[in-house]
This record gives sequence, structure tokens and C-alpha cells, in this order.
Amino acid sequence: MAGHVLIVDYGSQFTQLIARKTRAAGYYAEILPAELPVEPYLARKPGALILSGGPASAMEDGAPKLDPALLEAGLPILGICYGMQLLALNLGGQLTREATGEYGPAIFEGQVDSPLWGGFDKGPFKVWMSHGDRVEAPPAGFAVSGKTEDLPVAAMENRDKKIFAIQFHPEVHHTQNGEAILKNFLAVAGLSPNWKMSSFARDTIEAVKEKTAPDRRVICALSGGVDSAVAAALISKAIGNRLHSIFVDNGLLREGEVEEVRAALTAAYPEMNLTIVDASKLFLGRLAGQEDPETKRKIIGQTFIEVFKKEALKLGQIDFLVQGTLYPDVIESVSPQGPSAMIKSHHNVGGLPKDLPFTLIEPLRDLFKDEVRVLGHELGIPDSLLWRQPFPGPGLAIRIIGPVEEEGLFILRRADSIVRQEIKKAGLEREIWQAFAVLLSNKSVGVMGDGRSYGRVVAIRAVTSVDAMTADWARLPHDLLAKLSSRIINEVPGVNRVVYDISTKPPGTIEWE
Ligand code: XMP
Repeated sequence: MAGHVLIVDYGSQFTQLIARKTRAAGYYAEILPAELPVEPYLARKPGALILSGGPASAMEDGAPKLDPALLEAGLPILGICYGMQLLALNLGGQLTREATGEYGPAIFEGQVDSPLWGGFDKGPFKVWMSHGDRVEAPPAGFAVSGKTEDLPVAAMENRDKKIFAIQFHPEVHHTQNGEAILKNFLAVAGLSPNWKMSSFARDTIEAVKEKTAPDRRVICALSGGVDSAVAAALISKAIGNRLHSIFVDNGLLREGEVEEVRAALTAAYPEMNLTIVDASKLFLGRLAGQEDPETKRKIIGQTFIEVFKKEALKLGQIDFLVQGTLYPDVIESVSPQGPSAMIKSHHNVGGLPKDLPFTLIEPLRDLFKDEVRVLGHELGIPDSLLWRQPFPGPGLAIRIIGPVEEEGLFILRRADSIVRQEIKKAGLEREIWQAFAVLLSNKSVGVMGDGRSYGRVVAIRAVTSVDAMTADWARLPHDLLAKLSSRIINEVPGVNRVVYDISTKPPGTIEWE
């Protein structure tokens, strides 16, 4: 994928936004974490570099450095915030530490007719700042190309070398003309906006063909979710029936789930060689009597690996394992303190151990969820699968408080199915991040007919979220809540009470266990 944009990430919370905006403008972007060696990234021949912002002070010991190889590559560069300061420091300019820093809106004014300000009035306009250091004097050969009231060097450029730097963040929504500035830089860099998701699919298919040539075989663990399905579909386009997919039925799936996956994938992708392994007895046997959430999660994770390994061995020589890892997963696993990871031992097909004798293929590791959906759409994956709500690897086991037994699973499946049906009927499927039922361990007294009842309690959990890191409880219409309550109590035997969970995350989590 030569001629793409290489974004060097110095730790800014906005780096993902730079990538997203770049791709939305039609240019492919790859992110290089600042601590990694740059050579393999440069070997892929990017056409331009963007240096991100970051929380450090470029003048401190131990702050991320600008690798000289990046400058020597002679590529057009845009330095943003910390990226601007790194350029100044490395090219002979001068930095100073500000007493208070500058965070939030500022009024910027372009100073020269920079190509970066092409196509709009060069100022004054509102920009978003977030910095503690400032460039005091630009390096030799650089012109000051913009200022704010408090910042005499808010932008600088060496037009001959196509090196540009801005102190503000063009990637955030609140910066006026931000997208135009990014696009102007990429145009000056000489790149063409011809990247589309279909080009990504085509290039990935070619790369996978090459990597697995001439006849090496690939295995994939399907979870029933969007990411693994899209990854498998992409690989099957590249290598046809040299791909083998395994879907483990752990007995903890939702109503109709196995059939849905079978119907959606085998019809559209016969070459995925889908094997559905019914291991429900094994999982439920091992879970019997276990009530501690972490113990339940660990049993399910380990059993999954065991079953998957056994099935893989049956297939003979397999060289590669496909995983549907996304960019946010990469970031979370790189981060030493992924917040969810500290709270629960998340399990999914991405949690397979490193000692499996396969080389990994992760075709989606540079994409975001919404981009994966676009890709899935291009590959012909049905909407019913692309827009499924996230479902945890340990399945219904972590939505039954306490021990998991057949009766509880039966009740929960019925109640959960009602919740999903009604959310769909209300047209809220895409608005709500997740909506599901949880079966509580306690019983409550009620009156049914003329008699006393002593039945189970079902909690409904419905949340809105963009990335599952934080979530708010969904303000479902009261009529919808009433419908859910009456349908569950009337249609699900053994349930006499329904409650609605109104906790946010944090401090609650989305799942109950
Ligand atoms: P929590 O409960 O931590 O969940 O707020 C955040 C998101 O992650 C999902 N989740 C999981 N996904 N394996 C997964 O693949 C897991 O073990 C797991 N646990 C929680 C959860 O459904 C929510 O979308």
C-alpha cells in the first residue's frame, strides 16, 4: 500500500481521529506507535508523515523522540502540537515551557499564504489547543505561518521541503477548517485521494494471497460477531477453501444464534469451510456449581482454547490463524493499563494463547468498527450480522448471576429474545449499543392469578455508548419498558418481576459480571 500516510503516534488521545479523518478524506493511513522501530514502516513506502500530539514535554528526559530516520526519509511532514515541537527541537528551533499551558479554544490567524490555508479565509478562525510547551523560534529555513493572540508561533513551514507544523489540533471537531487543513497538506504532499474501502479489500486480498502462497492453509475462530466474520470473509476471498473456520457452540449462546450464524455464513461463504462444534455439554459440566464471576470466565476461556486446539489438530497441517483484531483492540493491548482489562478478564477469540503453532494474520488491525462494517457491506455480509450488538465471549454465563444451570439458561434465553425483538420493533437497534436481559440469583414474592408467587427476577440492561469504555443507560420510552416487563412476566415461566438497570459505566460495567 505504498503512497499512504504514516501517522507517528506520540501518545495523543486524538491520534485515532487523525487516522479516521485521513481515511474519510480518501487517503489510507497507518499508525506507527512512537516506541517501535520505524524501518519496517518506512519500508512500506509511505507518501507523507504526520507527527501526532502527545502528553509529554519534548524537552524532558525520557520523552518520545523523533527518530532521525523519519527526517532522513525526505517525506512531506505535518507536525501537530507535540509533533510541531519535535520538529522545532530536531531542526534547530527553540522551545520554551509555558507557565500555565493552553487548553481549549483559541483564535488563530494565518500569516502567510500557506497552501495549508487554501480554499478558506485564513483567519481569524477558531482552533482547539492542548499544550504546555511552545515554539519560541522556528528553525532556520522555516517561516512563521500563523499566530494566535498568545502564541506568536502557532504554525510554521518550510515550503521547499514540504514540512509544515501547527500547534493546534486540526483533527478535532471543534477546530474550524480542520479537515480542510489536513486535506490541503495531503494534496501538497502530492498524494491522491483514491483510497476506498474496496481498495483496502483488494490490497489485503492480494497481500494474503502472497503470504499464503502457494497452498498454505489458514484457520479462523468465528465468534458470531462482526469482526471475525468480516476477517474470515476477506480471507476466503483471497484463498478460497484453504480457509477453515471454527465456531464453538459453548451452550451459552443466545436463542437462535447457532442457526443464524450458520445461515448467514454458509450460504454467502461456502468456501469458509465452517465447522460448528457443539461443546455445550463440556462447558456446562465444567461450570456446574461455580458462582464466582472470574472463575466462570476463566473456565470458559480455558475450555474454549482446549476445544479450538483439538478441532484445529483434526485438520492436519495449518500454518496461519486469522483474528479479527481491530485498531482499538491493538491500542488497548499496547496500553499497560487498559481499563477493562484490569476489571475483568475479557475473553474472546483474540485471547488465544501465543503458543499455538500458527502465524497470525490480522487483516483488520488498522480499522475502526464503523470501517469494518463498511468493509463487511462491500464483501456482501448481511446487515443482520454486521449490525449485531456486541456479545461477550463468555456469553450468557456472565448474565446469570451465580451458578449457570439449564433452567436459568432457558429463562434467560427467552427473556433476552423478547428484549431484542422489542428493541428491533421500536427501531432502536442501531441507536442502542447493547440491550439484553440479566437473570438475578434472588427470588421475589408476587401475586399471580389469586395466588402467591415466588419467582425469579430479570433485569433489563440497555446502554448507549460509542466504544464500550463508557456507557450511559438508555432512556427507553416508558411504553417500551412496560411492554418488555409484561411480555417477560407473561411469557417466561418462573419470572414474576422485571427491573431496569439505571447505572452508568463507570461506576457500573455494561455486563453484570
Ligand atoms: P464491560 O462489562 O466490561 O463490557 O463494561 C464492555 C464491553 O465488552 C463486552 N465484554 C466482552 N467481550 N469478551 C468479549 O469479547 C469478554 O469476555 C467480554 N466481557 C464483556 C461487553 O458485552 C461490552 O460490550
